[in-house]
Formats: sequence, C-alpha cells, structure tokens
Amino acid sequence: MNWWKGLKSKISFREPLKKHTSFKIGGPAEFFIEPKDENDLRLLLIVTKKNNMPVLLLGAGSNILAGDKGVKAAVLKLNALSFKKISFKDSHLEAGSGLMLGQIVKAAQDHGLSGIEFLAGIPGTVGGALIMNAGAWGKNIGDAVSRVKVMDYNGKVKVLKRKDIKFAYRSSSLEKFIILSADFKLSKRNKKEIKEDIKMLVQRRRGTQDLCSPSAGCIFKNPEGGSAGRLIDLCGLKGKTQGRAYISSKHANFILNQGGARAADVLKLMDLAQKKVKTKFKLTLKPEIKIWH
Ligand code: EPU
Repeated sequence: MNWWKGLKSKISFREPLKKHTSFKIGGPAEFFIEPKDENDLRLLLIVTKKNNMPVLLLGAGSNILAGDKGVKAAVLKLNALSFKKISFKDSHLEAGSGLMLGQIVKAAQDHGLSGIEFLAGIPGTVGGALIMNAGAWGKNIGDAVSRVKVMDYNGKVKVLKRKDIKFAYRSSSLEKFIILSADFKLSKRNKKEIKEDIKMLVQRRRGTQDLCSPSAGCIFKNPEGGSAGRLIDLCGLKGKTQGRAYISSKHANFILNQGGARAADVLKLMDLAQKKVKTKFKLTLKPEIKIWH
C-alpha cells in the first residue's frame, strides 16, 4: 500500500542525500519528504509510524555524515513556507524552525535587536541549531531562546518554556521532539553596531576555519578544557588524505571533501584521529556530527 497517498507533502523517492548535505556526501534516502504544514507533518508521523517507517529529521544538512548506501527511512525536511515564518513583538523574535540562522540574524539586525549576533556564519536552521544547541564564541543558541514550540513523534504539539528545556554543550533535551518554532528574547541596540559585530565575527570565522570546500564543520566535540582541532593537529594529521577526503591544513577538526569523497573515507579519517589522540593524550574524541547509516 502506498502509505504516502493523501499527504499534501512534496515527496521524492530514492533521493540522493549528497544533494542535501553540506559535506556533499550520502547515498539515497528511501523517501525524502517536505511536509506542507503542521497538520501534514502530524499525518505524516502517524502514517510512517503505522507503516514502521523510521523518520529522520534534516535541518540544513550541515552537521550530518550520511552513509554511502543511504538510509531506509523517511527523511523529513521542514522546507515549506509555513515553517519559515518570522515575526516580531516588542523585543521578541519568533522564528519558524526551517529558517536559516543567517536569516534570523539579519532580520534581528534590521529591527535593531541584539542577542543572536554570535550565530552569524553558523550554517544551520533554527530547528537543527536548537536540537544540538549550536554555538560559537562561548555562547549557545539555548542562551537566547525563551520558548520553543515542538511536536512529539506522536503528532502532539506543545510549547516548552526555557526553564523546562535542558541545554548542554552541543546537546539538548529537545532531541526527542520536532521543533516547529522558537521565540528569542532580544534587546534593543544600534543597528550599525550590530552590523559591525556580525561582520567582525564572520571574518574571525573565515580566518580560522576551512570554509572553501564542502565539510560538516567541526567533526568532533571539544573535550572538556581542550580543543579537538588542536589535539588532532598535535598528532600531525593536518593534510592527511583518505580517498577524496582529507583533514584540513587550516583547522584539523575539519574534514573536507575535495569532490567525490565517500562517507567511508571520512569515517576512516575520524577513526585515525580518534586512535592517535587516544594514544598520545589518553582522551576520547566524540563526534559532533550525526552519522546516518
Ligand atoms: N587549533 C590548533 N590547530 C588546529 C585548530 C585549532 O592549534 O588545527 C587551536 C587554535 O589555535 C585555538 C584552539 O585550538 O587556540 C581553538 O580553536 P578555534 O578557536 O578554532 O575553536 P574550536 O574550539 O576549534 C569552537 C567550536 C566551533 C566554533 C568556534 C568559534 C566545537 C567543536 N567547535 O571551535 O564550532 O565555531 O569554537 O567559537 O565546539 C562546530 O560546532 O561545528 C564549530 C565549528
């Protein structure tokens, strides 16, 4: 039976994930689905569950290594306009989960509202960033949020207050939900100053990170009190190649795809970095990226 009949979603079959990940790596998703709105998303969750079809949520695809054989799952992307609404009330910004962080940073700047400048340059969606508590320069998105509207995997919607959400370094208690939208509490600030800060942060990022080839950003989480990039660097692994993937010579916590890299190549480099760091520093590097098999 075609369980997807009756949905208003945009559906593709055996969709190559390499088209949807910043790494430009990944085999086909059995189903690639863009629900039209909240109601369609709810129906989708119900029918996939009934048909034992696993569901995977994709944000901007910037923190994912999808396997070469793809995934036997329904990959959902909240790409429809109803998940990309943005509104302002007093000093609050309410943003749909499908918006890119760059879009909300710019909108806040245009309204003379400050508090999320540090998100500039992070290539994620609002939803994806919240789930993993993305951050930079000592700040995390969880610090700026005041309420989050979520749907559980049974299709039930609720609004969580900041105090009911646990945020930690690159993780949150939101992982068990699908994020629909988030409310950020910001404060008034001169637009020109906001713009200058954003420019400075983006430049700083360009100065230290390797953004010229496809990647998934930092591969490993930083171990407590240290930098994964520095540790991998000290193991002499910069420039190390495996197939068409290599460890960046600029920032050792970046693995780059020089065109045609396979997930297997990236996994081998990750394994090598983990083993060398373990031997030299007795530290275990944990992946920051999500690996989809
Ligand atoms: N370093 C080296 N060699 C390298 C890389 C870094 O010696 O190859 C040194 C740097 O010189 C610096 C230290 O390690 O003294 C830290 O490096 P950096 O300032 O680049 O920061 P990071 O700890 O590697 C973290 C986040 C980034 C975030 C930046 C800026 C993690 C895993 N990484 O990087 O986030 O953009 O700080 O705030 O938390 C990401 O999450 O994907 C990500 C890239």
